[in-house]
Amino acid sequence: MNQEEHPIGVFDSGVGGISALQAMIRTLPQEHFIYYGDTANAPYGTKETEEVIACVREVTDRLMKRKIKALVIACNTATGAAAFTLRKELTIPVIGMEPALKPASEVRKDGDILVLATPLALHQEKFNLLMEKYGEGAVRVPCAGLMELVEQENWNGAKKYLEEVFALYDLKKVDAVVLGCTHYVFLKGMIRRMLPENIVITEGSDGTARQLKRVLAKNHLLKEHGEGKVELETSGNPEDIGKMRRLLKRDVSE
Ligand code: DGL
Repeated sequence: MNQEEHPIGVFDSGVGGISALQAMIRTLPQEHFIYYGDTANAPYGTKETEEVIACVREVTDRLMKRKIKALVIACNTATGAAAFTLRKELTIPVIGMEPALKPASEVRKDGDILVLATPLALHQEKFNLLMEKYGEGAVRVPCAGLMELVEQENWNGAKKYLEEVFALYDLKKVDAVVLGCTHYVFLKGMIRRMLPENIVITEGSDGTARQLKRVLAKNHLLKEHGEGKVELETSGNPEDIGKMRRLLKRDVSE
């Protein structure tokens, strides 16, 4: 089999990365994706960096056995914790995700940017560097517990959680909200309805899909013909696959 025909491995701590997978399928419909949700080890965002690296190694070992041609870390937290290590250890291209602070900084007037992400993602060196470059007016908003509500598809619980978060800020002074965790992208429509219209919401799924396409093209790995395929796998319960399937079909703007 030619290298281009090989699958692309995509993973997250659970179902969050499915939001990024949706964008990848739209951008690269001919590709074969294997999505792995490490649900048994979720959440990553309240663990220590070393623990996350250990989880990620297990996931990538599995995916490498499937002869993937590229790896997408569809998780801001795991990218911050492990992208550097993985790029050193793996021989295939590794594409990561980071909170979409740059596009938020571009639309900022003189107000605040609320960056919603996991506690670990917001306290990593990688995020500090991003803050140095684009962080004027940016406020870290750690949302421990929010990914679990998405995992449970508990949309009412998520709404209540977010109402409490946004009540802490003067939204008249906010220019942008960054969804810095792939799970939160499933709450985009809900968040849109909760915020004043002038606040711009940014997230990284389309940018990641475009970056994947660029990297594949540069490495002569693009599959340009034939049918695409998606396989869903989990370290958790078989029911998690059904949940992933439902979320794959879900319109994130709903
Ligand atoms: N979906 C992951 C992210 O983008 C994190 C969720 C978790 O805490 O595991 O950061």
